[in-house]
Amino acid sequence: MNAGVSAPPSGVVDLRVELAGVELEHPVLNGSGTFDAVAALRTFGDEVRERFPFSAFVSKTITVAPRGGNRPPRLWETPSGLINSIGLPNKGLTGFLEHDLPVLATLPVPLIVSVAGFSHDEFATLVQAVAGRSEVAALELNVSCPNVESGCIVGSEAGEMGALMRRVRPLTAKPLIVKLTPNVSEIRPVARAAEDGGADALSLINTLRAAAVDPVSGAPWLGAGSGGLSGPAVRPVALALTAEVAAATELPLVGMGGIQEGRHALDFIAQGASCVAVGTESFRDPMTGKRVRDELARELQCRSLRGVQDARLTSRAARSTS
Ligand SMILES: Cc1cc2nc3c(=O)[nH]c(=O)nc-3n(C[C@H](O)[C@H](O)[C@H](O)COP(=O)(O)O)c2cc1C
Repeated sequence: MNAGVSAPPSGVVDLRVELAGVELEHPVLNGSGTFDAVAALRTFGDEVRERFPFSAFVSKTITVAPRGGNRPPRLWETPSGLINSIGLPNKGLTGFLEHDLPVLATLPVPLIVSVAGFSHDEFATLVQAVAGRSEVAALELNVSCPNVESGCIVGSEAGEMGALMRRVRPLTAKPLIVKLTPNVSEIRPVARAAEDGGADALSLINTLRAAAVDPVSGAPWLGAGSGGLSGPAVRPVALALTAEVAAATELPLVGMGGIQEGRHALDFIAQGASCVAVGTESFRDPMTGKRVRDELARELQCRSLRGVQDARLTSRAARSTS
């Protein structure tokens, strides 16, 4: 472990983890687009820095050009989830580098910038510009967007995934985390293509394709026609896909999808994740990440496990004997 992340007193659960070479104090990150650290820092300043709930911050996905996002309505609540069709509103690459990056750089944790291109050239532009900034510890490639050249969602097809990695991997030595989409018939070939192409870690899952109908008119509720489902409803799907990907690759995984408490985080770790991310639940309580971390520590302690790695090894052993 790096000297920057100090060890807990002996007897206390050691939550420190390493994600693609980045040392983290604990395994709980945020899901991209679900915690507006820029707004929080501008409004609450030092209070946010002192009580920051995550061990690393993953930015909202940025694109080359600024985007206003999709037509409203953009949200629909389901009995145990949320459908969003936000549509990646963001200031664009230049706006992010000039306005948001200097603010995010004041956070007390490593910064992971999420990028999405609508072509391989756009991905390359984003990776080169963002990775060149010393404030950035790692990049997350959001591959849930269509490539306008092929018409394919990059993360839905192993060939597309491999081609993207061949284009962007040579551009930086910084860790590249590929965020997988669950909207595929087979996730393993895509995960392997990312690994073969030089990804340093995988995160999963992004939202599940979903729609809602206006109860009065019968027309699609969401301005964009459809959106993506997140929250507790997707957790079982995310757990299944995490186990599949863990069995198919050697890469460290960031598991997410409906995490609300420490026990859920432990479930993802048991399925093979090294880290977890809290998304939708942070809209209910922005401090969920800290609560999940504390509850996870207690869950580990109750089981006499010393840390996350211990939990993963114990679960792997249990799987192989079941
Ligand atoms: C309102 C909203 C905005 C999101 N924006 C992004 C985004 O910009 N980039 C991305 O990769 N994922 C985005 N996500 C997906 C989340 O990061 C996460 O993968 C997903 O919601 C599953 O986790 P959860 O069930 O804990 O929310 C968004 C999710 C929501 C609910």
